[in-house]
Amino acid sequence: LDDPTADPFEIARIAAADIARLTGVERHDIALTLGSGWGKAADLVGETTTTLAATEVTGFSKPALEGHAGTLRSILTPSGTRVLVIGARTHFYEGHGVRRVVHSVRTAAAAGAKIMVLTNGAGGVRRTFTPGQPVLISDHINLTAASPLEGATFVDLTDLYSARLRDVARSVDPSLDEGVYCQFRGPHYETPAEVRMAGLMGGDIVGMSTALEAIAAREAGMEVLGFSLITNLAAGIQETPLSHGEVLEAGREAEPVISGLLARVVEAI
Ligand code: 6GU
Repeated sequence: LDDPTADPFEIARIAAADIARLTGVERHDIALTLGSGWGKAADLVGETTTTLAATEVTGFSKPALEGHAGTLRSILTPSGTRVLVIGARTHFYEGHGVRRVVHSVRTAAAAGAKIMVLTNGAGGVRRTFTPGQPVLISDHINLTAASPLEGATFVDLTDLYSARLRDVARSVDPSLDEGVYCQFRGPHYETPAEVRMAGLMGGDIVGMSTALEAIAAREAGMEVLGFSLITNLAAGIQETPLSHGEVLEAGREAEPVISGLLARVVEAI
């Protein structure tokens, strides 16, 4: 993936073949990426039939971050859907390039997944958001100045966060708030002025993932569903300084709520 002459889709096909061989599951139906705070949220989705270390699969690496599992799991839901759970996200701020960031999404597509569920822990810009609440992503603003697409691939991003899948999520929990996700590069949190800018632009949530992955998923022809767990309010909205410890703590506290939500949404899909 670091070799610019290599074909990232070919590497994704090799990774998907690794997954098929190591899990014994030829095709997965849905892929689910677990962000900060969502680590345990897949446990209620179904029965884990195989857990792989990310390092066993071509192109994946050990997560750089506490709060990320570093595993790929194959889960079988009660209704027989096969879910590929990606607990090994590569963030753009790690500096390994956007091909590495979206490799898991391309691998999921090559493994057969038609639906990509992306989750993250994020900061709330909208003042009415409360730490611990899940928010359905309605759209995004990509502030990374990067794209996973290379060359003249002009992909339409209308309805990127599928209206159909958002309807499904809201049918499971009608009280779900929706918001526009702004992906910043990070790894520093935003300044209060940047957070005000995000709000003026129409952003409701700020984070460091998801948008680039969603674009790659759309390019691969997948339907995308996104959830943010509000782990804290963004700088200048909350009075106290932000910390990664606080992000992890909010995830632990929200676990029961978001686990149930995710399991019911996947079953309803
Ligand atoms: Cl406030 N900003 C960003 N970029 N990511 C976050 C966050 C804030 N809170 C949790 N993750």
